[in-house]
Amino acid sequence: MTLKIAVSKGRVYEDFLSLLKSSGYRFKDEKTRKLVIKDLDNSINLIIVKAIDVPLYVNNAFADLGIVGKDIIDEFDDLFYELLNLEIGVCDLCIASMKNSKIKEMDYLKIATKYPKQANEYLKFKKLNGEVIKLNGSVELGPLINISDCILDIVETGNTLKENGLEVNEHFKKIYSKVIANKVSYKTKTDIITEFINKISW
Ligand code: PRP
Repeated sequence: MTLKIAVSKGRVYEDFLSLLKSSGYRFKDEKTRKLVIKDLDNSINLIIVKAIDVPLYVNNAFADLGIVGKDIIDEFDDLFYELLNLEIGVCDLCIASMKNSKIKEMDYLKIATKYPKQANEYLKFKKLNGEVIKLNGSVELGPLINISDCILDIVETGNTLKENGLEVNEHFKKIYSKVIANKVSYKTKTDIITEFINKISW
């Protein structure tokens, strides 16, 4: 039986592939634009998708498992199981604004973000009035061109903030990737999912 795993493109995919290889899974060494990648023993099919679509693939059983960051998981209601934390895609979800802006003194805060659910949770947690402006990328533009007072976004190296004149005001939460599972797959493929989790946990 083959395990279908949705994984987001880019760095998470590269790190996850390294983890699979060091856990004993064998892959052809090739640079490829293929969107379905099988291991040499055909025990795993990796389905390469956009990060935001990983929960959708898992919830709809297009994939048994998904590899996705906590930043994205927390935008969804729990329709899937969270099986394992991975040391992949580690970064911070932060509030950031233009250097020297006085957002701490504002009583109405406009937040630009890819993460509207968590931005609303932030406003509620801080007991602040405000509004959330949903963008799908280049979120740093928010304060830069006066769409918003600040952003809620992931910061990894900090280079994007720095190059655009922004700085971190507050660390909201630590982000890392997780293995999530479709609930039906978890019941019908328990043995191979457990074997997979055990293999990559070492
Ligand atoms: C993410 C994030 C920041 C950047 C942070 O964007 O939204 O813009 O990476 O990384 P850094 O701290 O290492 O500079 P991504 O590259 O995913 O592109 P996007 O703007 O299209 O979402």
